[in-house]
This record gives sequence, structure tokens and C-alpha cells, in this order.
Amino acid sequence: MPEQTPAPSSAPALLDAQGRRIVYLRLSLTDRCNFRCSYCSPAGIETHEDPLERSEVARLARIFGGLGIRRVRLTGGEPTLRRDLLDLVRDVSAAPGIEEIALTTNGHLLASLARPLREAGVTRLNVSLDTLDPEKLRRIAGRAATLDRIVSGIEAAYAAGFASVKLNVVVVRGENDGELGDLARFAWRFGATARFIELMPFGPGAPVPTAEVKRLLEGQGLRLEPDATRGWGPAYHMRGTSTDRGRPVSGLVGFIGAMTESFCDSCNRVRVGADGSLRACLGGRERLGLKELLRGGASDEEIAQAIRAALLGKRERHDLAHSRGKLLPMIGTGG
Ligand code: 5AD
Ligand code: SF4
Repeated sequence: MPEQTPAPSSAPALLDAQGRRIVYLRLSLTDRCNFRCSYCSPAGIETHEDPLERSEVARLARIFGGLGIRRVRLTGGEPTLRRDLLDLVRDVSAAPGIEEIALTTNGHLLASLARPLREAGVTRLNVSLDTLDPEKLRRIAGRAATLDRIVSGIEAAYAAGFASVKLNVVVVRGENDGELGDLARFAWRFGATARFIELMPFGPGAPVPTAEVKRLLEGQGLRLEPDATRGWGPAYHMRGTSTDRGRPVSGLVGFIGAMTESFCDSCNRVRVGADGSLRACLGGRERLGLKELLRGGASDEEIAQAIRAALLGKRERHDLAHSRGKLLPMIGTGG
């Protein structure tokens, strides 16, 4: 990994209202997407498409790096739709203080982008993949979603040697809950980890609680044991063992109990949406218009102060269970 310039040691830690240390920025680069996952982009939602420009992203990365942010995840919409994505990655990775860059993608353009992304400085990749059945995939993610392309993307990611590749599986009752074991084993073939995410109520479909996901996995041929491996966020892992095509196999599986487990306690993140607004919590409607500040002549210090102040208003936990219909859609937030 290239040497990084350390952040100024005088930078005070970025704390939220609950005293949680915020080191992780999720930055949405666009609200456009070539897929239409039902749980993420409910039919008829408006897109803005006046995202932050490259120079604005670079400036924000420097400001956040100075505030104590160490890890940045680039999200969307679909971040690979940005033509300047590789330049953006290089800019963010050059920002003092930023130590690691991850990217979340639907995998559609990954076959050709995996290696350049790795070379530009992305170390971790999350690929959304809810099913191994091509027809079902189209039903969930829309007509543009092609299993072959995504699988080629995952193969390319494996070959490019990322430090971590995760397959994000949003578990929807009656849709993909019968193939969770297959998805876990599929991920292991590529040195990847399947992460089972509880559906959050941004659209239709019924969630499956994480406790039940574990029982389903056991029923689908996985033996699960505790494992202490942690990632950047609220996901935790278990070690699974199974057999795949007649051979004993083993690897990690991840869980994000977004709705039923207290994943807010360890929250260490802040989000900037595709519209250039900062959101302290994905379950809230409060936003800080960073784009307006950037374009309105605010100084770096003024922007940094506004970010600190916004985080001091960050709530203790989301209240998604009681917010159905009142939330901002996921697509411009990037999960
Ligand atoms: N519930 C849970 N996860 C979601 N994502 C998008 N919408 C939802 C939702 N309603 C996550 C998926 C996808 C990533 C981009 O965002 O994991 O992989
Ligand atoms: Fe696009 Fe990802 Fe949302 Fe699906 S979940 S519509 S791939 S941004």
C-alpha cells in the first residue's frame, strides 16, 4: 500500500452527540443507477444528477481527512457510472489522513474496472448480489441486471487482489431465502464473504431477521461458529463450514442486523449523499447542504465547523421501524 501523508496531529477526533468517534465516510458519487432494485429505488423516484464535481469531492476528502476521517467508501446509486471515477479515487486517496478507500458496486461494469480501481487505490470492494438465478436477479434488480456480467466482475476482482471482497445479499422473504447457503459457498470460491443484510423498509418486500437467516444457513448446509473478525461498520461475522461440489470448504459469512440488532451502538460513520448533503444518520431527514457551502464560497474551516456541528446533532439510533414512507430513498444515500 502506498505511504499516506498523516493527518495533522492537532486534528481533534470527530465525535457525534453520543461520543461515538466518527472515522468512516460514505460518499455517494451519483444517484443514477443502471439497475432498479426494488428495495432501493422504488418506481417513480426522482433523480437529481447534479452531483459533486471532482474538485469538490477532492476538497471534501481533504476537509474530512483533516477532521479525523480515515476510511472512505464510494457509493451511489452506482459509482461506476461516473466517468471520472478513477480520477476521483486517486484524489481521495491523496487526501491527507485518508488511509483506505472502498467501493460498493452492482458489478455490472466491474469486469473491466476491477484492476484499474485496484491500481487507483481502492482496497475493498462490496458487490451487490442477491441471487444466483439469472431470472430472479432480473426480477429483483431490473432488466439490465445480467448474472454472467456480475460473476465476471467478481472473478476480475478476485484476480486483481483486493484486500477484501464482500457480496452484499439483502435477504427478502420468499425471494432469495432459499439460496443463502449457495450464496455463501459461491462467495468462498472467489475468496469473498457473503454478507446477509436485513431488508430496511425503503420499498416493498418482507425482511428476514438475522437470527432466522442463521437458522436458514444451518438448514442449507452451513455449520456456523463464532468469529471475531470485524469490518469497518456494524457487520459481524461467523465462520462457516460446508461442502461444495463434494469438497469440504470453509470461510466467513457476515451479518448486518439493520433492523433487529442494535447496530447503532457501534456507529462510526457519516454520509454524504449524491445531492452533496451530509446526513449524520440514514434514518433521519436532517441534512447539511455541503454542496451549497462548497459552491457558496465557504472556507475549509467554516465547512469543517458545520460538519462538526451537524454531528453533534446525530441521534442515538435510527428509527426505521417506525418511519415507513417517511424516509429518503436509499438510492441517493448508498446504504
Ligand atoms: N435494505 C437493505 N440494504 C439495502 N441496500 C439498498 N437498499 C437497501 C434496503 N432497503 C444496500 C444493498 C446494496 C447496497 C448498495 O445498498 O446492500 O448492496
Ligand atoms: Fe442500484 Fe445498488 Fe440500488 Fe440496486 S441496490 S438499484 S444496484 S444502487
